[in-house]
Amino acid sequence: MRKILLVGLITMLSLGLISSFAYAKVTGRCDKCHTMHNSQNNAPMAKDDAGNNSTTPYGHLTRASCTGCHAGLIAGSGAPNIFGTPGTDMTAGGTFKATVVDAAAGDYHKVHNVRDISWTREEVELLNATPGAESGGYAEPAGAAQLTCAGTLGCHGDHTQAGSDAGIRGFHHGWKQGYRYLQFYDGAASTAIQGKGSSNWELGGATSTNHNVYYATSGINDTARDSISALCSLCHGDFHGDTDVHNGSTWIRHPTENLLSAATGWNMALVTVDYENNPFGFNGAEYTSATTTTAYTTTGARVTCVSCHRAHGTPYNDILRWDYATMSAGGGGTTGCLGCHHLQR
Ligand code: HEC
Ligand code: HEC
Ligand code: HEC
Ligand code: HEC
Ligand code: HEC
Repeated sequence: MRKILLVGLITMLSLGLISSFAYAKVTGRCDKCHTMHNSQNNAPMAKDDAGNNSTTPYGHLTRASCTGCHAGLIAGSGAPNIFGTPGTDMTAGGTFKATVVDAAAGDYHKVHNVRDISWTREEVELLNATPGAESGGYAEPAGAAQLTCAGTLGCHGDHTQAGSDAGIRGFHHGWKQGYRYLQFYDGAASTAIQGKGSSNWELGGATSTNHNVYYATSGINDTARDSISALCSLCHGDFHGDTDVHNGSTWIRHPTENLLSAATGWNMALVTVDYENNPFGFNGAEYTSATTTTAYTTTGARVTCVSCHRAHGTPYNDILRWDYATMSAGGGGTTGCLGCHHLQR
């Protein structure tokens, strides 16, 4: 009897270990990232932010700004670089690199134009309205003029705190939670976004052995707000999360959280598993059993906002993963729209 109990306990423990996961947090010597007085020999300390030696210290006494650390300026800090180049060192979120997101016809419609970065041609090119903003509930930024990395008017961190610095506080040391430091906020309570992240943020491109596993809810009527699409719906809420999302039999926007299944006419064997061009979201068992280093299948596959978009910026219009203009019915191809919609190939 005792043995059975013990075996049961061990099984439960190991299942717990396999299915639970921790959100990312920083490690290493404090002085690598922090300065206590920002002063040495009575002079402002050399900071690691591209030679920025201003006497003004950064929030949380860090040695570089939010975009400074994330441009790789603190050598060896292990911070993901958000200014990467597609095909070489870009990560899953995409890139804010000006020469990539502003390379073509001189517009910034390929990126979230956050305030923490200065944009050169912004007067004429910013989208100073938030597409799909809903009225009531959470107050989203009034377009690019107000959009920040973190905080009340940003994507990352705690939305009850104003500004990027206050908003991100507590996430790097792991006492505030969320996949990629993301939380949903409904105006009253915060919900950590779920997901399993590649440990190097899909550096250089997602593969079957190194990929994120996005979290989707159990369907369009699920009231949980812990999916990656729920995060996007925080600001683009009229596309998602409201009762007006799906009007009878007519889709009013491309659905998310929906299951690709044989029951709704999909031949699952023909749907392409392509981690880079049409990644899926998963709910429940499929998600808890998936790791970031083993291949997933189309079983339980759902659509998310990031099945088509990236979060930061890309070389393509509307922050898409690919050039929409290259997708043609009957035109062949198995990526992007056609990766899923095999009947249109
Ligand atoms: C904190 C609010 C906020 C969140 C969260 C947010 N966005 Fe946005 N988004 C904006 C604002 C503001 C704009 C318009 C300004 C701009 O383009 O920078 C925008 C613009 C866009 C555009 C149009 C870009 C263009 O210029 O044509 C796309 C596409 C987009 N967002 C997708 C997403 C996706 C996908 C997510 C989730 C991964 C997301 N957004 C999450 C605020 C947000
Ligand atoms: C690899 C970089 C890095 C290292 C190493 C690091 N920190 Fe931080 N720390 C940060 C960043 C970034 C922030 C600000 C954003 C945040 O709070 O998430 C921060 C914020 C803080 C804060 C304010 C927010 C909070 O979590 O309470 C304290 C206190 C802090 N660090 C103390 C320390 C101490 C003490 C050490 C060494 C034992 C240390 N840090 C090592 C990067 C680092
Ligand atoms: C002092 C340097 C430093 C500063 C300042 C800093 N970060 Fe980080 N950040 C890091 C490091 C190091 C990591 C990698 C943590 C790890 O090992 O997973 C990280 C990781 C992250 C991640 C990925 C979390 C994950 O799940 O993997 C996000 C998102 C992030 N930071 C956002 C921000 C934002 C937003 C700001 C500014 C408001 C900021 N950081 C400021 C050093 C910094
Ligand atoms: C099936 C692919 C796909 C999915 C899934 C998808 N989008 Fe889009 N999105 C597009 C395309 C393509 C465009 C370009 C404009 C168009 O064709 O409507 C676009 C445009 C946008 C725009 C810009 C609209 C404007 O007015 O400029 C925003 C914002 C946006 N998407 C947000 C989202 C959010 C938030 C989600 C998840 C709730 C989402 N998208 C899911 C493909 C997708
Ligand atoms: C990750 C897989 C995936 C990708 C990528 C994708 N779709 Fe979809 N699409 C779906 C699912 C699932 C549905 C919901 C229909 C269903 O339940 O069968 C859907 C529905 C649609 C519908 C409505 C169909 C109907 O029955 O009314 C259209 C139109 C559509 N998609 C076009 C596109 C286009 C265009 C693209 C590329 C910009 C695209 N999709 C990319 C999975 C995907």
